[in-house]
Amino acid sequence: MGFNNNGADLFLKNFIKQNIKKKVDREKNCLGINFGKSKITSIANAKDDYISSLKLLIPYCNYAAINVSSPNTEGLRKLQDPILLRELLKEIKNLPDCPPLFVKIAPDLSFKDIDKICQLINDEEINGIIATNTSLNRLGLENTLIEKTGTLLSEESGGLSGKPLRNKANKIIKHIHNIDKNLTLIGVGGIDSPEAAWERITSGASLIQVYTGWIYKGPRLVPDILQGILKQLNYYQISNIKEAVGSGLSWKN
Ligand SMILES: Cc1cc2nc3c(=O)[nH]c(=O)nc-3n(C[C@H](O)[C@H](O)[C@H](O)COP(=O)(O)O)c2cc1C
Repeated sequence: MGFNNNGADLFLKNFIKQNIKKKVDREKNCLGINFGKSKITSIANAKDDYISSLKLLIPYCNYAAINVSSPNTEGLRKLQDPILLRELLKEIKNLPDCPPLFVKIAPDLSFKDIDKICQLINDEEINGIIATNTSLNRLGLENTLIEKTGTLLSEESGGLSGKPLRNKANKIIKHIHNIDKNLTLIGVGGIDSPEAAWERITSGASLIQVYTGWIYKGPRLVPDILQGILKQLNYYQISNIKEAVGSGLSWKN
């Protein structure tokens, strides 16, 4: 919907009011805050927009996700251009007490574009990548008819998330892990089961996130995923999940 919220300063007020800050023990918990420029901010002013929100919220986040990939905020994806992205990241990195930074990318980039982003992330010593955001492609659902509107899914605007995104998002994690094994990857996109979570980890993700899966499966999804991962670790006699990252080990029932 284009980040239709009341902005970083109100977010901060609510955040403090809810006492979440106290619960954020930097040693024990990990809170990431996701930053994107506002819909009304031009690309020329995007840097200032990110910087002003970050300045407010840096004391409260363990890591910052630099979102340059939401499809519904006009122009945002232009910031994936390597020249613009490098400029943006350089400036953010110079902020005092800058937390670890993760760049969140779109699934619609070509592998060539992704390689360029990986290169600059390496050059600028950025901590990692979150792959992926929602897709503007319809990923095999182009001809799906939406009953309520009578239109095809391919005619709808907005980003596609969930199950149809799983393979695409997984391929991107695999690709990035293959070119840079040292980059920390956060995998997201269509993870709605322990199998999907295991697949993403063994493809190269050190961490995973769920959004649509949570909506369909509910909070039970998290313990289910954790139990599923533990079973796999036991099956393969792996003592640390780090060993599973990028291992390519298949799911065993
Ligand atoms: C309703 C909705 C709102 C979203 N808003 C954001 C957002 O503000 N920032 C962002 O980086 N990603 C946003 N996303 C993308 C998700 O964080 C996630 O990257 C994507 O949906 C793929 O994961 P999933 O298949 O588990 O949903 C949104 C997704 C949905 C469905």
